[in-house]
Amino acid sequence: MTEAVKNSFPPGPQGSTFAFIFGERRRDPLGFFTKIAQEYGDVSTLKLFNFRTLFLNHPADIEDMLVNKARSLEKGRVMKANMRLFGEGLLTSEGDFWLRQRRLAQPAFHRARVAAYGSTMVEYAERAMRTWRSGETRDIHEDMMQITLQVVGKTLFNADLARDAREVGETLEILLQLAADFSKSILIPLWVPTPRNLRARIGIRRLERIIYRIITQKRAEARDTGDLLSMLLAVQDEDGSRMTDKQLRDETITLFLAGHETTANALSWTLWLLAKNPRAERKFYEELDGVLGGRAPSVEDIPRLTYTSQILSESMRLYPPAWGMARLVKEPVEVAGYKLIPGNGIACTQWVVHRDPRWFDDPLKFIPERWENDFAKKIPRFAYFPFGGGPRQCIGNSFALMEATLILATVAQKFRFRLDENHPVKPLASITLRPAHGIRATLEAR
Ligand code: HEM
Repeated sequence: MTEAVKNSFPPGPQGSTFAFIFGERRRDPLGFFTKIAQEYGDVSTLKLFNFRTLFLNHPADIEDMLVNKARSLEKGRVMKANMRLFGEGLLTSEGDFWLRQRRLAQPAFHRARVAAYGSTMVEYAERAMRTWRSGETRDIHEDMMQITLQVVGKTLFNADLARDAREVGETLEILLQLAADFSKSILIPLWVPTPRNLRARIGIRRLERIIYRIITQKRAEARDTGDLLSMLLAVQDEDGSRMTDKQLRDETITLFLAGHETTANALSWTLWLLAKNPRAERKFYEELDGVLGGRAPSVEDIPRLTYTSQILSESMRLYPPAWGMARLVKEPVEVAGYKLIPGNGIACTQWVVHRDPRWFDDPLKFIPERWENDFAKKIPRFAYFPFGGGPRQCIGNSFALMEATLILATVAQKFRFRLDENHPVKPLASITLRPAHGIRATLEAR
């Protein structure tokens, strides 16, 4: 942390813009940012063309970025590049428009409302497991992606998505892949007809067709059918205005994409970490057997699944599904002791901060017990921030934690996962942190 306000930027890695784009940062962003934090400390400068980005590694500075100075900042370039896809959805919109949408959407994420989705989450995990056989080897990441996609589809639309499920699933896959590509390379606006952009446009149109059809159906039904979309249709602002179809389209696509892969990643990394840590795995099974005794979990069981919750916290510490965050400066502001002007960037990454030995003993080890006795309250607020923070904190935070806990408890009651040691498991830092080649494991009935 710095004390006096500085006009000049702190040091950072040297090198040409070309090397920056095509070199280590692109090949191995996690290693790149880790090295910069080690070499340059809590604040450094990343340069790309004429853009300067302040790279922050101290929790107090990250709090400055995400909470104290949030009003002077907006979302970073990668998010903006994805505007065509997300439109003016919660993830990408700004200012008064964002605030109004956030207020309208918030009731759909209230605890009681979210709790009602618990049985859907368990049901979809059980449904997926019906096709699983003891002794077979599967890509468990693919399985987690399928389950969370269906959960989001059902809880968002409550529509009989069965006939659309495949098309929605395939389209989302295309779009997620494209979103990930956008974040890795030079940003070519979607209106430029590159082959990739043309694929993106077709994908977006397909998804829009389905979404607009469902919106029309729901408007005609004109009743709250328990899902997020019907609730968003019903909510009104203080002035009585409601969301337009375009706004609903943007929010729906945003929630679909923001809510599906992140939670799947959390689940996949957790199953992988458990399979690699037999002691924690045993303790986890003991908790499941003690609390559930073989029956399906429900929302009411969650407060008693304390070790499960510590496992998830620890898994998201080591493998944060959203691994980095960025902002653009929109008005002159001081952050982390440096004077910034419009156009400057600010970035931080959960990957680096969550592995900092100043806050976590043995930071690279998977130790769920470290979260006992309110450990989270004893470390700086932004030493651990898998869901971001400040006004733009993840709206799906409790939805995701509940979903991950229930799906984890459901699948682990029935199966143990034995990793295929010949299959390489490596994190790929695209928009989210996913296993690059999936995770292959042999199922063993418990
Ligand atoms: C483990 C799962 C999840 C993780 C790690 C995660 C992480 C995050 C993070 C870090 C942000 C802040 C981004 C920023 O400030 O730049 C965010 C925002 C957001 N997330 Fe999540 N998320 C998860 C699940 C979900 C789910 C399940 C949903 C919806 C059903 C969701 C919807 C959103 C939305 C709409 C925003 C934008 C909020 C705003 O700016 O007002 N997320 N998420």
